Amino acid sequence: MIDGKKILFSGMQATGNLTLGNYLGALKNWVTLCDEYKCFYSVVDLHSITVRQDPAELRKRARSLLTLYIAAGLDPEKNCIYYQSHVSGHSELSWILNCYTYMGELNRMTQFKDKAAKHTDNINAGLFTYPVLMAADILLYQTDVVPVGKDQLQHLEITRDIAQRFNAIYGDVFAIPEPYIGKTGASIKSLQAPEKKMSKSDENPNASIYLMDDPDTVMRKFKRAVTDLQAQVRYNPEQAGIYNLINIYSACTGKTPEEIEREFDGKGYGDFKAAVGEAVVNVLRPLQERYADLCKNKDYIDSVIKNNAEKANYYAVKTLRKVQKKIGFPERIR
Ligand code: TRP
Repeated sequence: MIDGKKILFSGMQATGNLTLGNYLGALKNWVTLCDEYKCFYSVVDLHSITVRQDPAELRKRARSLLTLYIAAGLDPEKNCIYYQSHVSGHSELSWILNCYTYMGELNRMTQFKDKAAKHTDNINAGLFTYPVLMAADILLYQTDVVPVGKDQLQHLEITRDIAQRFNAIYGDVFAIPEPYIGKTGASIKSLQAPEKKMSKSDENPNASIYLMDDPDTVMRKFKRAVTDLQAQVRYNPEQAGIYNLINIYSACTGKTPEEIEREFDGKGYGDFKAAVGEAVVNVLRPLQERYADLCKNKDYIDSVIKNNAEKANYYAVKTLRKVQKKIGFPERIR
């Protein structure tokens, strides 16, 4: 608990451009969570180097993601938005937790298997112990809840196992985190293959709307979105393409699927797609304007980076010192 609130932690990698799916499915809903939780949102640059990165590009993307968080409405006074690499406790706790994690456990991680298969030329130890760093992120703040997608549930599970193992030896050191189950956003699918999630790493640029896409690009991508031959705007999961467009339109306008069905009753897909495109443009415009303004305000962003890293560090050090003491590391002489 911090200030009487439960603690929420989430991290995002600064690889790839954020999509409309990231916004409607996650970011947009994070904005209100700070009323109920003490929220930490980390740009997890330590995780990013498990695959090779171009240094200038990594730096640029990390700053861009942090700025986007703010542009999307996360108030940096109420939320702790910071770079993982600015709080050394992540690396320190990660090393310690490595010694309480079994090779066999890590070997079972499906994301490791996938990534190892994809990057056969660079299967480094960091890729293998990635889940331990993620456990350190979460446990460092005595986190109660973690909003994660399905693909990260296995990592949250191992985090809980590590925490429980550690607590069983040393007493109640870590809070045991739960997945955040609350109002989550819409699950937005690819515009080209609507059975798949809209992903920032999709190779087909027409499959995803990026938050920085200009209006023409947005309209064009919706025009090309995959639909079906039924020629009816129905909220029917079997019409996967239309179903997804209805979800997007609904998330952008607040209209219910029933209202949308009525609105487009007897109209063609062309009209509907144009309306969805416009609704998305209207959501992205203010976000892009805020982003552009923030980018001009270097001093402000710098101050957010500095202040929030200090805040995060304050809580991180508390947990870290407790852990070090429990393990038997010598006390610091002041
Ligand atoms: N591994 C997560 C992802 O790729 C990012 C992440 C790192 C994270 N540390 C975290 C998410 C802690 C939640 C909590 O999506």
